[in-house]
Amino acid sequence: MKVLYIFAHPEPKSFNAAMKDTAIAALKDKGHEVKLSDLYAMEFNPVLKASDFTERKNPDIFNAFLEAIKASKTGAFSSDIKEEMEKVKWADLLAFQFPIYFTSMPAIMKGWIDRVLAPGFGFNPITSSAYDTGLLKGKAAMLAFTTGAPKEMYSEGGAHGDIHRHLESITHCVFEYMGMKVLPSFIVYEASAMKQEKGIEELERYKKRISEL
Ligand SMILES: Cc1cc2nc3c(=O)[nH]c(=O)nc-3n(C[C@H](O)[C@H](O)[C@H](O)COP(=O)(O)O)c2cc1C
Repeated sequence: MKVLYIFAHPEPKSFNAAMKDTAIAALKDKGHEVKLSDLYAMEFNPVLKASDFTERKNPDIFNAFLEAIKASKTGAFSSDIKEEMEKVKWADLLAFQFPIYFTSMPAIMKGWIDRVLAPGFGFNPITSSAYDTGLLKGKAAMLAFTTGAPKEMYSEGGAHGDIHRHLESITHCVFEYMGMKVLPSFIVYEASAMKQEKGIEELERYKKRISEL
């Protein structure tokens, strides 16, 4: 299997970085091919703007949606977007790993989605290419993330509510919308308060999950 591992954490010595290293080693051990997009290390620009397009359909008024639909046909995306799109085309599985920020993914990763999984590339409402006919059909996607809050807080009836429900804006409205199959999320709760032993246990649990993919 070909895996694109999209990772967002600003600190190479973090628990999240250890999770990323564990996953990549486990995938390679199983004979999978891996490409890594380490977004902070790449200093990936998460801001969608007019300069994302090397030619403009309408130079007077910037309409990101229509420019992306056109660029998907002509290839007029900036080189950083094109490089990531090539990785997406290559991959069977897109794995997104991150620390939860305000019950979602960090902005740098959301910006990767905004710019790379563009209209015309991931989906196209004009040609009704969504869900069963999404343009990334045949691929799978998975979230792996850590929280600061305990599991009870992110459960149904807990103070924040079910974390899976919050993340449906990504798992359902982005991944499934684009035709991808969503694998169960891997979650490490209360990662910021974890003792070393618990951290080692969680890395083992992640290694096992990844090895079973
Ligand atoms: C800007 C910011 C927002 C955060 N928002 C949340 C949140 O909404 N829920 C939560 O459980 N933890 C939140 N946290 C805590 C992080 O998720 C937690 O520190 C991280 O998962 C621990 O992993 P690490 O040790 O690899 O950094 C937030 C942290 C930051 C810096």
